[in-house]
Parts: sequence; structure tokens; C-alpha cells
Amino acid sequence: MERRDFLRLGGACAAGALLAACGGRAEQTAEPVRYFRYAENQAEDYPTVQAARYFAQLVEARSEGRMQVLVYPDATLGDETSVVEQMQLGMIDFSRVSLAVLADLMPRLNVLQMPYLYTDADQMWRVLDGPIGQQFLNGMADIGLCGLSWFDAGARSFYSRQGPIRTLEDMQGLTVRVQESSLMTDMVLALGGKPVSLAFDQVYASLQSGSIDAAENNLPSYESTGHMYVAPYFSEDWHSRLPEVQLLSKRVLDGLTEEQRALLRGAAQESAVYERELWVRREEESYARVLSSGARINPLSLEELERFRQAVAPLYGQYCGDAAELVEAIHST
Ligand code: GCU
Repeated sequence: MERRDFLRLGGACAAGALLAACGGRAEQTAEPVRYFRYAENQAEDYPTVQAARYFAQLVEARSEGRMQVLVYPDATLGDETSVVEQMQLGMIDFSRVSLAVLADLMPRLNVLQMPYLYTDADQMWRVLDGPIGQQFLNGMADIGLCGLSWFDAGARSFYSRQGPIRTLEDMQGLTVRVQESSLMTDMVLALGGKPVSLAFDQVYASLQSGSIDAAENNLPSYESTGHMYVAPYFSEDWHSRLPEVQLLSKRVLDGLTEEQRALLRGAAQESAVYERELWVRREEESYARVLSSGARINPLSLEELERFRQAVAPLYGQYCGDAAELVEAIHST
């Protein structure tokens, strides 16, 4: 085993028992076992973590135990921004992150996550599974990452502590948590709110203490994090359909053989198919769990949705000024 791989184990196996405990089938051969770390910021039962586990199983089986992926859920390896930095340095091998945290590093990614961009999920998948999506995955090499596959994360809506957001007026002056992203910050400003950028794992405490009034996310995140207990008014404004991406560090990729790369890409694609199935089921379960928690899910009228849409429309000029053709291509896909 290479020393670097040993260090990657991060305490999962004691040194003496290492091969015996973790080596799997490869311990019987002379070939070293290669260990990889996979960072996740969601909880164990969340669809993206379950898909990461499936990815790890496929990789282990197809490499006959010579490649082992150790999945670290619950942001154990750091928040998404820090994980991305560590991946650029080759210190973390894999992760799955929200596209929002990559956009300031690669501004053209904003085009894929503009508010009210897609008419529905099917349109987003036609875009991501087609040449546009592939070009964006390939382009991540420019920021030291290899984009492997797209994961579903539904659409995001606002939720608040002290009463439903039903109109644009209700957004005025609200302190709203946003991801570490200029686009998300400007979106909340455009809607009249006061954006506060926080890492995902700080949102619960900030809502609970009242240091923020509101946040925004998809229903499974709202439910799994318990935000529904501290901000029990979920408003169905569905402002952003924000995909997620499974990543491999480019530095790590560069050190792999062609055969290993192909194996990892294949497993990543299959784990994404699995995640999308799990996602659809989890959205339904989350809907029911939110309602039974006592939180309320409030629809927005069509007029108000149109007002939200109009309020964020200027962001297209600001963020997609030089990508008008691409926006058009997405709209017509
Ligand atoms: C979603 C996403 C996370 C992200 C979070 C956020 O839950 O799955 O990866 O961190 O949104 O709002 O920060």
C-alpha cells in the first residue's frame, strides 16, 4: 500500500490490521489496494449518500477489491467549499456537491442554475444528459475537477420561521440564508431580502436562534435537516432547479490508468441513475413527513409566481449576458 493511500484511511482502520480489515479480496494478491475518500455533506439515509455507497460497491466489485471508496457523510471532511478546495489540491478524491458552490469558481456554470430557467425536471434532464451537460462536465477540468455525473436535487423554495411567504411583499427585509454563491446572494437581493451566506450545517442553529428569518432548499433537505421544525412555513415558489454534480479530483484522475478511469466513470454514471430513482421516492416521502411534522406547505398564486419571476429576470443580463445563445438553446431543448 502506498503511504498516501494509508494516510487517506483517516483512522478507519488501525495500521496493523489494515490489510486484514480493509484489504478485501485484493489482500490475496500482490497488488496494492488503492483507497479513495468520498466527501458528502448529507446524512446517511439521504439519496446522494445512498448513491455514493452504491458507487463504492460497484467500484470495489469491478476492481476485485483493488479500489476501495470510503464514503464520509455529514460533512465530516468539511463543508462543500472546503471540500472543493481540498479536491483541487488532490487531498480528497471524490465528492458530490451542489452546483451553486462551483459557480463562483467557474462563472459560466451560473447559466445552468438561473432562477426559473427550466420549465420542468424533464427539460433540465434533456439539457444535462445532452451535449450541453457533457460540455459543462468536461469544462470542470479548468478548475481542477473532473465532473463525473449529474445528480437530482429537485427545485428549491423559501421557508421561514415566522409566517408564510405568500407574496413578494413578504420577502421584503427578510434575512435569508443563501449558499456561498454570488448568484444566490443577488437573487435574494432582487427579491427584496437580505442575504446571509452560511455553510449548510450552520443553517439549523441560525434559524433556531433567530439570527436569520428564512432559508431556501428542496423538500428532502428541509425535512432531513429538521429545518421544518424551526422554520415551519415552506412556500412553493420553486425558484431554482439546482442540479448536483459528482466529482473526482483532477489531480487524482491524472494519476490513474485508463482502465481505472473507465471503471470509475461507468460506476459514477450508474450511481447517478440510482440517485435519480431514490430522489423521486424521497421527494414524496419528504412531502408527507413535512406535513406530519406540523409544518405548512403554502402554494404561491400564479400572479405572485409571475412577480417573483419578473423580480429576478434582470439577473439574466447580469449573469448570462455573454451566454444568451446558450440560454436560448436551453429554453428550446
Ligand atoms: C442541498 C444540497 C447540499 C447543499 C445544500 C445547501 O441540500 O444537497 O449539498 O449544501 O443544499 O443549501 O447548502
